[in-house]
Amino acid sequence: MSNKQLDEAKALSYAPIGVFDSGVGGLTVAREIMRQLPDERIVYFGDTARVPYGSKSKETIIRFSRQIIRFLKTKNVKAIVVACNTASALALEEIQSELDIPIIGVLKPGAKVAAETTENGKIGVIATESTIASQLYTKVIQSHLPQAQVLGKPCPLFVPLVEEGWMKDPVTVEVANRYLEPLKESGIDTLILGCTHYPLLRSTVRQVMGEEVNLVNPAYETAIELKGLLDDMDLLNDGKGQFEGPVHQFYVSDAAEKFKSFANSILPYGIDTTQLIHIEEY
Ligand code: DGL
Repeated sequence: MSNKQLDEAKALSYAPIGVFDSGVGGLTVAREIMRQLPDERIVYFGDTARVPYGSKSKETIIRFSRQIIRFLKTKNVKAIVVACNTASALALEEIQSELDIPIIGVLKPGAKVAAETTENGKIGVIATESTIASQLYTKVIQSHLPQAQVLGKPCPLFVPLVEEGWMKDPVTVEVANRYLEPLKESGIDTLILGCTHYPLLRSTVRQVMGEEVNLVNPAYETAIELKGLLDDMDLLNDGKGQFEGPVHQFYVSDAAEKFKSFANSILPYGIDTTQLIHIEEY
């Protein structure tokens, strides 16, 4: 490689990573990237005007994802993380072939680790209606462990409860009891939190499912996969680059102040501003 090419590659490694979700759920993935890759910068987009994604059609999710990617590309991101299981299940395959930068989702890394860690081969998946209907968790788990029994359970009320900030409210515990009862009775030893909002309900899910069931948070595995991918492509940020403005940037399509205070309650990094954008213009 010439010196000029080396300089260009270095400059690219200082570019941020685009991360998106329908709302605050993807912050669980952003938080994990911040922990595991502290030198990386993030441009986060939460589609708070159009949440929830989990009951929408594949065509709609693909259209939304394309708009968000067009927006993130205006921020010169070097890679994109689809921090939403629904978009990972419904849109990722279609959109990745349209992109000239790496893109990863959260579904495959979580499915893989569940297949690798289950002892009795019975795996539960809680996710949005669209993610469960896509059957993609079952397919990916069985590609690693053909004899696995996968029990999917949509939990549509979890997303609005989290967006409302009712993580430990008695109503949420009651809803969790109703949703999780059949999974509890089925004898699963592993449960995938297959929606990026759900790790925020981890302690409630733990309380209902008991200590014996292993809870898989795909965010953790996704950050590991992202690190490997950036490393392979020589895109890891060494933290020595110069840039202007905040380390991480946050954009939403609605309710910026509400998003900001939520983000500040769960991120290890305080955010000063969240900017509102008109995503339909992209
Ligand atoms: N957090 C997203 C997911 O992982 C979407 C939730 C929703 O908007 O329904 O599926």
